Amino acid sequence: MILLGATTERPAAIWEGRTSKMPKVTFIKDGKATTVEFEKGKLPYEHHGLPESFLDVAMNFNIPLEHACGGSCACTTCHLYIREGEQNLSEPEDKELDRLDTAWDLRTNSRLGCQAVINGDVVVEFPMYTRNYVQEGGAIQLGKSDSRDEEKKTAEAQP
Ligand code: FES
Repeated sequence: MILLGATTERPAAIWEGRTSKMPKVTFIKDGKATTVEFEKGKLPYEHHGLPESFLDVAMNFNIPLEHACGGSCACTTCHLYIREGEQNLSEPEDKELDRLDTAWDLRTNSRLGCQAVINGDVVVEFPMYTRNYVQEGGAIQLGKSDSRDEEKKTAEAQP
């Protein structure tokens, strides 16, 4: 694994279309680009989404990419825009596409960082915002029963 460093310049488009055993991944956040390179099959996997996904690569290089659900395709905090190299990624599965439908500012180049597996050089950009249903208490219900169930139980318990 090699950390190539950070630059504020726009990454060169010459990477587009290349697949390799040493993909270069450029993360752009707030206009600042950080490029890392990893060897396919050698990245230490620590259950950060799918192996060799953006989230997996980011976590291995200490690049902060939110992942409220732990990389299980249950939130949209790992939402990224693919700037270059979309052809070097795994095809999105239905569960990723369904989840992406709930992302803030969804675009045609949107992917979930924990689900898109990197097979070659790619450049991604962080969106300005993400939706974190876990923190915001929105659409994801974590184990607590529906209030209608409580009302039903109360009604059944009364004589
Ligand atoms: Fe939650 Fe990717 S980290 S969907």
